[in-house]
Amino acid sequence: MKRSWWKEGVVYQIYPRSFKDSNADGVGDLRGIIEKLDYIASLGIDIVWLNPIYSSPNKDNGYDIRDYENIMEEFGSLADFDELVEGFHKRGIRLVMDLVVNHSSSEHAWFKESRTSKASPKRDWYIWKKGVDGGPPNGWQACFGGSAWEFDEGSGEYYLHLFAPEQPDLNWENPEVRHNVYAMMRRWFRRGVDGFRMDVITLLSKDPSYRELAPGEGMFSPTAPYVYGPRLHEFVKEMRREALDGFDVMTVGEAPGTTLEKALDLVGEERGELDMLFQFELMGVDYIDGDKWRQRPIDLVEMKRIIERWQRGMYGQAWNSNYFMNHDQPRSVSRFGDDVAYRVESAKALLLLNLSLGGTPYIYQGEELGMTNVAFDSISDYRDVDTLNYYKEALAAGISEVEAMKSIHYMSRDNARTPMQWSAGRNAGFSEARPWIGVNPDHVTVNVENEESDTASVLNFTRAMIRFRKGHPVLVYGSFELLAREDPRLFAFLREGEGERLLVEINMSGDFTEGAAEGLSATTLLTGHGVAGVATPRTLGPWEARISALS
Ligand code: GLC
Ligand code: CA
Repeated sequence: MKRSWWKEGVVYQIYPRSFKDSNADGVGDLRGIIEKLDYIASLGIDIVWLNPIYSSPNKDNGYDIRDYENIMEEFGSLADFDELVEGFHKRGIRLVMDLVVNHSSSEHAWFKESRTSKASPKRDWYIWKKGVDGGPPNGWQACFGGSAWEFDEGSGEYYLHLFAPEQPDLNWENPEVRHNVYAMMRRWFRRGVDGFRMDVITLLSKDPSYRELAPGEGMFSPTAPYVYGPRLHEFVKEMRREALDGFDVMTVGEAPGTTLEKALDLVGEERGELDMLFQFELMGVDYIDGDKWRQRPIDLVEMKRIIERWQRGMYGQAWNSNYFMNHDQPRSVSRFGDDVAYRVESAKALLLLNLSLGGTPYIYQGEELGMTNVAFDSISDYRDVDTLNYYKEALAAGISEVEAMKSIHYMSRDNARTPMQWSAGRNAGFSEARPWIGVNPDHVTVNVENEESDTASVLNFTRAMIRFRKGHPVLVYGSFELLAREDPRLFAFLREGEGERLLVEINMSGDFTEGAAEGLSATTLLTGHGVAGVATPRTLGPWEARISALS
């Protein structure tokens, strides 16, 4: 496969609202990130992905954009942005921004104009339909609950919003919309941006039949009428041609409804579409019937099977992106690890896993500390539109408050959005003022300051593992072979290529377990972590993880 910086790099994701507040208003901002540039660089990462920082009324924390050309007032100014880009580039870090163009905010000038009347020149920039029998045009549901159609009193039609009503879907059938988006992208590239993470990119093209979901088809089924719609590949190719070509930038599409086969069409190296995508199969591993609010324990054998399918299926044809959490998911250590008995060990095990898979690793702010899920007692402490809507709908459907809060504690997106924990001090060192969302009480122990001075911390392990990956290109470009497939505790695999053969063994449990070296040629331990002196060379202690070279 072709080599490139975005294949060899490690990505660090920053959620600006919760990273660092520089001016004591309780909201993270660009100058806060600037203050922490040296910390970010100290991790050894190569690329930063910033969640949306554009002007927004924040119905969905910046995923509802009012003006694609300006910075959210709370976050700072374009001058701050330029300084931030320069700060990253000086440190050899590239900057990837979020591109949210399936929808805009209902406060975007385009939408305001579009809704003025059926005759508006911008009417066709959004998706307007007449109602049917006094109700919406069809039964599509919005991702955050309720109908995906909102009636506009003023102009007498419904508009489509696959997310919140304040996030009307742009009409990608309209070439003016597309060309405006491409021009906007180019302006950001010229300003120094090195790529885009493309929000729900698989939803851009809607099936013109506007048919109902078929029985059994879930909201983001690969075949749903707005997932991988008929013109998606055409739009993405056009975007590549008109917005991306000529710039040395990377793209990663957020891709709900993606199967391995569909992924190869969108990111296959020969396709000329996107570089990478985020698939959701792994994130669905603990859902019941595809419903994220109904959860079951993680089955390691199934988790391994999913990872293996993507590792092997993409190999030599397309590039994987690996993540165990982001701003939409619970904390990885609370979900895939054990944040009670083995927080430090399991956080390290997961980081070692992420950093030894093929593809580009994405680490989310605080993951390098082993930050955990929060469990606010009261729904009034939650801020996420998705969580608040779920709570209302769950109670209306007769689910008890206790049950609903239990799901929220496990799955709410706010788990990832509590402030970054810089110190044990007031507001975790995030802000001088009361933060926009509560701080996780565990900040008194889990924080950057503590972990800096502890050689055995998750933070220092993350740095060491990133360095280790850099020294072993087999981890980037090598092949993948899963071992001990049916083992319910051990996650073991071989990586081979670039003149090396590495054995990765991770105990994904709190019990002692046998490793996978049996029958393999002699091994030399290269790195890892474990309960020093307890485990034997063959046995792994609780959440122990190691990488060995095979002779
Ligand atoms: C993506 C974003 C999520 C947002 C949604 C709507 O899934 O990651 O945070 O709510 O798109 O834009
Ligand atoms: Ca601020």
